[in-house]
Amino acid sequence: MLPVTSQPGSQTARSWTDPPETHTHTHTHTNTKSLHPVCQLLGRWRESDSSLLNMSYVKSRTAARCGALAGRSLCRTGSAKFHLASGASWQKSAFKYPSYDVPEMPPCSFKPEEYKGMSKEHMMEIRRRNCNPMTMKVTYYKKPVFTHQGYMQWLWDVDGKRYLDLFAGVATVSVGHCHPKVTAAAEKQLKRLWHTTSIYVYPTLHEYCEKLASYLPDPLKVIYLTNSGSEANDLAMLMARLHTGNYDIITFRGSYHGGSPQTLGLTSNTAYKYPIANGLGCTNTMCPDVFRGPWGGSHCRDSPVQTTRECSCAQGHCMANEQYIGQLKETFATSVPNRIAAFFGEPIQGVGGAVQYPKNYLKEAYRLVRERGGVCIADEVQTGFGRTGTHFWGFQGHGVIPDMVTMAKGIGNGFPMGAVVTTPEIAASFGQGVHFNTFAGNPVACAVASSVLDTISEDGSQQTSLKVGNYLLTQLAKLRDKYEIIGDVRGKGLMIGVEMVKDKASRDPLSPESMSEIFEDVKEMGVLIGKGGLYGQTFRIKPPMCITMEDADFFLAVFNKSVHNYMERRGG
Ligand SMILES: Cc1ncc(COP(=O)(O)O)c(C=O)c1O
Repeated sequence: MLPVTSQPGSQTARSWTDPPETHTHTHTHTNTKSLHPVCQLLGRWRESDSSLLNMSYVKSRTAARCGALAGRSLCRTGSAKFHLASGASWQKSAFKYPSYDVPEMPPCSFKPEEYKGMSKEHMMEIRRRNCNPMTMKVTYYKKPVFTHQGYMQWLWDVDGKRYLDLFAGVATVSVGHCHPKVTAAAEKQLKRLWHTTSIYVYPTLHEYCEKLASYLPDPLKVIYLTNSGSEANDLAMLMARLHTGNYDIITFRGSYHGGSPQTLGLTSNTAYKYPIANGLGCTNTMCPDVFRGPWGGSHCRDSPVQTTRECSCAQGHCMANEQYIGQLKETFATSVPNRIAAFFGEPIQGVGGAVQYPKNYLKEAYRLVRERGGVCIADEVQTGFGRTGTHFWGFQGHGVIPDMVTMAKGIGNGFPMGAVVTTPEIAASFGQGVHFNTFAGNPVACAVASSVLDTISEDGSQQTSLKVGNYLLTQLAKLRDKYEIIGDVRGKGLMIGVEMVKDKASRDPLSPESMSEIFEDVKEMGVLIGKGGLYGQTFRIKPPMCITMEDADFFLAVFNKSVHNYMERRGG
């Protein structure tokens, strides 16, 4: 294992489930005079902040925090603008809410560089004037996060504020920001050879293809490298059509498979659609969503957490699955010709909000698709590379073997890359013409991706996904039981969705404004998460697979506090 940035056990962990009023204060009282001057100052401010506070608790928390800061450039003196990068609880929300109520961020020994670049205002001006206007639309936070540096599960903004990154650049930073081992592999290759093309034979490409193939079951052994997930899915569509001689492709409603003109047809989410002719030959079928859909019960999905819906299905029998398969059959009967090219499905829907299907759905769907001449394609862009914890690939959790697997995001820990892996038979059908891609298989990308595979195995990332993911899921389920507005908690490993509702009975999505309030509050307390779902109603937690149990506890406390704050503001 790599040195982990947080130092477990350096402070007494507080149970996040404790209601704020009933904390037992276990920290040791420390003399604040021996602390860093800025920390002393803050300690005094905090003490005078509220006469209701338990003084020894405040001092001890301050001491603990300053201990974490001591000797670090982050807590600079002699500057009016000091950075409190190690202490989220001293950041804005700490001033807004009673400090004893604000969760404490685990320490981190990594020192980021001091930011000396352009001002935030200047960046926003350029963003408005010269950048793809879409970037303004998806700035995401009312007060944007100006990121500057990353290390493992941590991000720092230009002011030196530290964030626990639980979104990983949309499930992309698989092993950790600037992971030292992967960075070293990239540096080594950058000094040796940046680019040639795959018409020449160079070792990094071949080492990588052999290594990646070893992670896939037979007959999935032929690899096409690409530069992104959309490109991988485009290629898979083309290959499926050429191989089968059929044209129609089926995907789930609510899915996201890319934003290129072709993959927009696979994607089934109005937010990404344009009023132009698109999606010729693409049909969306009902997503077997056991929480939001018409059917679902208490043991449908492969997750440590089930929905709160009830069912009386006997063991080994799932009525919801039968109903959803019935819907797929309806699609075959009404919307496509009797021969189809492909069925695309994510093992767990990503952008759709970590939606999981009934356990045997994919098995049965694959059988029906193959009966109609189609190939089955698993989009592992989000679920691959150990993220689901129990398996390296999401499809393995469904007990199926696809004919093609598409991947991107986590494949390169943030380095632009993607791949399609298929069978020699399908590859042969594609071989009639020429397919060429200048950057695919780039030596640096291959060196990075190769190192990512090694790192996943050396760091035990998949095992971390399972352990921390199971913990997060089961603890989040307790919050679901506590709060009326948490409708569902689901997922596997570090692919987690928390669906927010107006109330449990209606399951109506929580409004975008309410989602934003909670989202913003979580960020102010130092945690970055994502949002998804057709109505933007689901929080998405997909961190780098190096987070610790202490990080999980910190997030749980932050999330608990944010939902609590929201309910309190609503008088709930
Ligand atoms: C499941 C899935 N497939 C494909 C894509 C498209 O990948 P890219 O953004 O690299 O083109 C995404 C992107 O979010 C995705 O989540």
